[in-house]
Amino acid sequence: MSTTAPGTPYEVRLAALPGPEGVTPATFAVHPAPAPVPPGPGEVLVSLRRLGLNAGLANRIGGPDTAYGPGLRPGDVPESDAVVEIAASADPALPPGSFAVGKVPWRTYGLVRAEALRPLPADAVATGLDTYLTVLGHVGFTAWTGLIAVGAVRTGESVFVSGAAGGVGSCVVQFARARGAHVVASAGSPGKVALLTGELGADAAFDHRAGEAAQLLRAAAPGGIDLCFDNVGGAQLEAALDCLRFRGRAIICGAASQYGSREVRGPANYLRMIYQELTLRGFTVTEHEDRRPDFEAEVGAWVREGRVRSLHTRLDGFDAVPKAFAGLLAGRHTGRTLIAVEESP
Ligand SMILES: NC(=O)c1ccc[n+]([C@@H]2O[C@H](COP(=O)([O-])OP(=O)(O)OC[C@H]3O[C@@H](n4cnc5c(N)ncnc54)[C@H](OP(=O)(O)O)[C@@H]3O)[C@@H](O)[C@H]2O)c1
Repeated sequence: MSTTAPGTPYEVRLAALPGPEGVTPATFAVHPAPAPVPPGPGEVLVSLRRLGLNAGLANRIGGPDTAYGPGLRPGDVPESDAVVEIAASADPALPPGSFAVGKVPWRTYGLVRAEALRPLPADAVATGLDTYLTVLGHVGFTAWTGLIAVGAVRTGESVFVSGAAGGVGSCVVQFARARGAHVVASAGSPGKVALLTGELGADAAFDHRAGEAAQLLRAAAPGGIDLCFDNVGGAQLEAALDCLRFRGRAIICGAASQYGSREVRGPANYLRMIYQELTLRGFTVTEHEDRRPDFEAEVGAWVREGRVRSLHTRLDGFDAVPKAFAGLLAGRHTGRTLIAVEESP
């Protein structure tokens, strides 16, 4: 049940630094937000429609400033990518009533810089606003960049995707299938494994908590793999290096298993790269912005044809944000975690 009143703008603030139990719903709190003034030059007044949550934000709570944003202190309002409706604007590229996507504060209604937003096409509502935070959004662009622009996946190749039920991973599985690859995927529970081989169409999948990663991957991909799209690092990256065929490639997207650890562990078996002529290649999606039109054309066509779809856990109502963020960190969600906000300001 919503505890926010229609007509009042709200924001979510960091309430307190997490204690030993980690992030809980009490880590963040919903507060009335200041009433916005009309937009000045370079500003637009936006109404929040969909808010995307990222587990990586947890690394910034009480932490130092990073390339992804400043460290968060109690009282701060975090930012993440969102779909907004333009309420008032002096920018002709963002007319009132149109939709846009960009990184905005966790606030139902307020001013943002126009340059932080990209306009969405006129048929965005028909396509599905959720889609612009998943397959057609930042996680989709990350998946496409690693798999296609950097990884150069080819039809018939065998691709292993770790962290495959997450935001990026669920896109990689679908894009690799759409490109005609054979897909082996991993996730952290039997339910997620069933989702990977069922709804997402992976050819094989395993629960990385069910045993030793190298054995699990070898059983799921007995003929070996050509390409690894790695979101987690650690034992699964090592397993992938063991299973890569001659001149295979490992694309390093993330290392969720290493985040927050004092000693980041690299693959102990990297010498196999020499005699198998393997490539280990990292990428940063923001360095590939020039490829966005190619991404939008290819994935947009797949969405229209129904070949890929948005995989997300959606919670309704802005006051669900604190609970949703704690649930995301506890691994309770599949795909991207989204908040749907319909009643703003
Ligand atoms: N290179 C780039 O430009 C770029 C851009 C965006 C994101 N990233 C990175 O890409 C990765 C995926 O992002 P995302 O948005 O998809 O995140 P996400 O939805 O949180 O998914 C990450 C997955 O990692 C798995 N995981 C977490 N801790 C783990 C552990 N200790 N061992 C094994 N698996 C673990 C979880 O899967 P299970 O619960 O199923 O185990 C989770 O679903 C992240 O590492 C992120 O930092 C990179």
